[in-house]
Amino acid sequence: MKIAVVGTGYVGLVTGTCFAEVGIEVTCIDIDQKKIDNLKQGILPIYEPGLEEMVSRNVAAGRLQFTTSLAEGIKNADVAFIAVGTPPGEDGSADLKYVLAVARGIGEHMTDYGVIVTKSTVPVGTAAKVRTELEQALAKRGVTIDFDVASNPEFLKEGAAIDDFLKPDRIVVGVSSERAQEVMSKLYKPFLLNGHPIIFMDIPSAEMTKYAANSMLATKISFMNDIANLCEIMGADVNMVRKGIGSDARIGTKFIYPGIGYGGSCFPKDVKALIKTAAENGYQMQVLQAVESVNDAQKEVLFDKVKKHFGGDLKGKKLGIWGLSFKPKTDDMREAPSLVIIEKLLAEGCTVSAYDPVAMPEAKHTLGDTITYAKDQFEALVDADALLVVTEWPEFRSPSFEVVGKLLKQKVIFDGRNIYDPKEMQEAGFAYHCIGIRTAHHEPVAS
Ligand code: UDX
Repeated sequence: MKIAVVGTGYVGLVTGTCFAEVGIEVTCIDIDQKKIDNLKQGILPIYEPGLEEMVSRNVAAGRLQFTTSLAEGIKNADVAFIAVGTPPGEDGSADLKYVLAVARGIGEHMTDYGVIVTKSTVPVGTAAKVRTELEQALAKRGVTIDFDVASNPEFLKEGAAIDDFLKPDRIVVGVSSERAQEVMSKLYKPFLLNGHPIIFMDIPSAEMTKYAANSMLATKISFMNDIANLCEIMGADVNMVRKGIGSDARIGTKFIYPGIGYGGSCFPKDVKALIKTAAENGYQMQVLQAVESVNDAQKEVLFDKVKKHFGGDLKGKKLGIWGLSFKPKTDDMREAPSLVIIEKLLAEGCTVSAYDPVAMPEAKHTLGDTITYAKDQFEALVDADALLVVTEWPEFRSPSFEVVGKLLKQKVIFDGRNIYDPKEMQEAGFAYHCIGIRTAHHEPVAS
């Protein structure tokens, strides 16, 4: 089989490379000449563990190619994936101009039957718009070429995208013809060896599935954050509550970890977009509205704890921050809680010294020199009044607390990810503040 993937961002690049990895002939297309030149030399626009080697391997094997020419890329392709960006507009809805421009371009250049698949997360109804663009482009050329559109949402987690692609829990494909279903079955066959299903459905349902999945996961997180905040007030331990509820298979153990709010490129955007789509169609997503406002508030929780601990006056305090990316194993800073926390700290007159194993260059784009960037996690603590753990990178899990204690001016830790044991921290002499557990250093609740 031969496929084309249009858009070499995160989704497109992972998709194209993983298809090449199983032996399919793949051409990745992007309008950005620099990006394509870099990719040809094995330089990637994003950080994703394992991807660089996989790209090089498949390029060397001749199965993975990069071009800026849409006409060349889609030539003889059985399937063309549209994986370009859908940036949120002012009002929160996904901007489809890139998706539709690609659809038009495919219509202008296609020569044979093909399945045109939307891979970007797009609102319900987009595949129908893609079809219209294609039809209009073909009509303009005065040719009749048979084609199908399909919707194939991705469920990749940053940092684990290759594994998620090669061993998916499920593949969801929305189709409207048997022919398209056959093509997509054949394409995905190599990924179904672990027995997980490919679920075919109508196109609007596939489009909705992606939003429903991300919104459900965001809901679990916001719900748990709400419970965590209440646990603190009531003197319960959210870790215990999490284990207690998670062992009920109907609830499950995943995505119920409280923290400082979800970030990244998907959850915030998709929750907003679904609320918006519903509103446009006369329906109010009440649960999701609450999910969003709980998340906004949760991003400030760690800052509130810092302010309270220091008696409301943070002027002149220096804070050491571990972790900037929205989660470990990525350099993605989009909607990262660190940005909210740092902005609030700076506004109070603090100085911030931060360390992140991967995301510092990316963070500099937004934060510039408003903070200092340490060369390692310990340098960030020199003369700091406290440590804030903002992203749970593995290397932060078990530091020498003796060293941490000596470097800090005061033995104070604010842990936004609950990675340390409150009892051990107390024994080591730290004032330890985390999420959803009233530690010995919290103020007692007024009765
Ligand atoms: C997510 C979805 O998981 C993926 O299926 C979809 O395709 C894209 O969006 P991603 O954004 O890479 O993937 O990150 P994920 O690992 O899902 O984490 C999202 C956010 O939730 C992070 O900010 C993380 O810190 C937070 N989170 C996750 C929690 O706060 N608690 C949890 O229990 C789990």
